[in-house]
Parts: sequence; structure tokens; C-alpha cells
Amino acid sequence: MERIILDVDTGLDDAVALFLAAGLDEISIEAVIATAGNVGLDNTLENTLNILETAGVKCPVYKGADKPLVRNPVQAGDFHGKSGLDGPVFAPRKFQHAQEEDGIEALVRMVRKNPHQLSIVSVGPLTDLALAFRKDPSVALLCKQIVVMGGSFSQGNVTEHAEFNTFADPEAASLVFSSGAKLVLFPLDCTRRVTLSPTRLADFQRRQGLSTAVFCACMESYTANYTKRGQGEPQMHDPLCVAYLIDPSKVETEHCRVAVDTDPGRTYGKTTKIPTDSDGGVLVAKDIDIPWFWSLVDRALANLP
Ligand code: RIB
Ligand code: CA
Repeated sequence: MERIILDVDTGLDDAVALFLAAGLDEISIEAVIATAGNVGLDNTLENTLNILETAGVKCPVYKGADKPLVRNPVQAGDFHGKSGLDGPVFAPRKFQHAQEEDGIEALVRMVRKNPHQLSIVSVGPLTDLALAFRKDPSVALLCKQIVVMGGSFSQGNVTEHAEFNTFADPEAASLVFSSGAKLVLFPLDCTRRVTLSPTRLADFQRRQGLSTAVFCACMESYTANYTKRGQGEPQMHDPLCVAYLIDPSKVETEHCRVAVDTDPGRTYGKTTKIPTDSDGGVLVAKDIDIPWFWSLVDRALANLP
């Protein structure tokens, strides 16, 4: 059983990551922390609670950071809609609600209580992890591993150089990438290759289940937003990080150091690979078995209410 803590800025692809983690028997979601990113924290928290309630997940949910470490906040609502989760309409929740405890406090507490047993999946800006490492530097080395969606070593998606999650908090990304934690990074170079085709979406739309219906409503608006911007089929960034935990052998990786540009300017938030043969590097995902990934999404959604 892979015990995980998810740190999300629930937008539409974060929702797929949450459904995937919730629906796969190999994974135990120990906690979820919502952070500001795609949209503001109030919306990412609400979206996270709604997706987890839909999936029947009763794990504790915490509020993370509501702003980046240093820079002015930026959002990515144009791909996710004003609410961050345009598409589905949710009934009033019956059980999911935010815990009182601060998310960063909870992260530090849980990792210290479960040394080398918890995998962290971070699919938004890295602010929460950076704050946790600042509060207690030992946390970086007590995580079993940290799987991150972020960065790009080719074209960015928010500026020509930078990917959204690293651009939204470059200082936090730089701190996490140099923390010595056991990191696996899914950059745009890998994640933009996994897209949802109209044929596959139509196949999901023929299926039953509330979670599948919410997934389809999310993916319909995700598809529309990509089409509106002439960006082709919607890209499945975040759920690849969850899939990795099921079978790392399905992901081709390379080991290197990753630097983040923290000088405000044209390349702010840009990530660069630096060859290294020493420890403390990052496993960077280069490719993933795409049919296998979709087989996991099929299995997870079929497993959910
Ligand atoms: O660049 C893609 C990332 O930015 C994804 O995590 C998406 O949810 C947005 O947060
Ligand atoms: Ca995200």
C-alpha cells in the first residue's frame, strides 16, 4: 500500500489526480492539502472538498498557503475556469470539510510521525513544501519520496520559458529542488504528451457512476478551454504523478540536478537540468507508457461511486 499526502491547487487536471488516487486500491490517501495556484485558496479548497466527497474519500483536508513565498500571486484560471473547476455542479456536501489545523503544520506532524513511509504528491506551486522544510528541515529527508508536477526543459506554458507551477512560486521550487529530498519531477516535456482525445472522452461519457460523470463534466470544460485557446487536446499533467506510484517502471527517467531561475525577469521560474553523478539530484520523467496510464484511469473511475 502506497501511503500518500496530496498537495493540490485543484483545477481540472488536479481533479483527475484526486480521482486516480481515490480509485486505485494500491493507494491510501492519508491527507490532502489545498494550496493557492490555479485559482485562489478559497476556490482550490472548495474544489478539493467537492471532488473528494464525490469520490467518497473521508481523509482529512487542510488549508495550505494562500500566497507564494515572495512574488505576487499569479493564476491559471483561463485553462480551468473562473472557479478553477468549471463544468461540474455539486450538491451540498454531507461529510467533507476543512480541518482547523494549518496544512503546513499537519504536513510536518504527519511526516515526522511516519518517517520514510509517506510519499508526497505535489501538483501545484511548491509553497507548502517549502514552508514545511523551512519550519523543520528534517522533513525533506523524512519523506519516502516527493513526486512533483512542474517545470519545463523546453517551451513553457505560462511564459515562453516557465511552466505554471514553478512560475507561480520560483523561490519555493528552488528551495524544494535543492533540499536533498528524494524527488521525482514530471515536467511539461513529459506531461504535455498525455492528452485526452474526443474519442476517449466520448467513451467515458457512455459509462455510469457519479465520479465518472463529474470527471466527464470537468474534462468537457477542460477540452473547451484548450480548444478556445487553439492548444489542441487537454493535457493530463497532474495525474501522471499518481500513476508513477503504481509502477515506476512504466516511466522513463533521467537523474540530474534541477535549477530554478529566481531572478525576476524574462526567464523568472525557468527550470534548467544540470548533469550530475552525485546524490541529491532529481529523477526527471522523460516518457510514460500512455496506454497503461489510461488503463489506470479506467480502473480508478470504475472503482469509484
Ligand atoms: O503547468 C501545469 C500545472 O499547472 C498543473 O498542475 C495544472 O493544474 C496547473 O496547476
Ligand atoms: Ca495543479
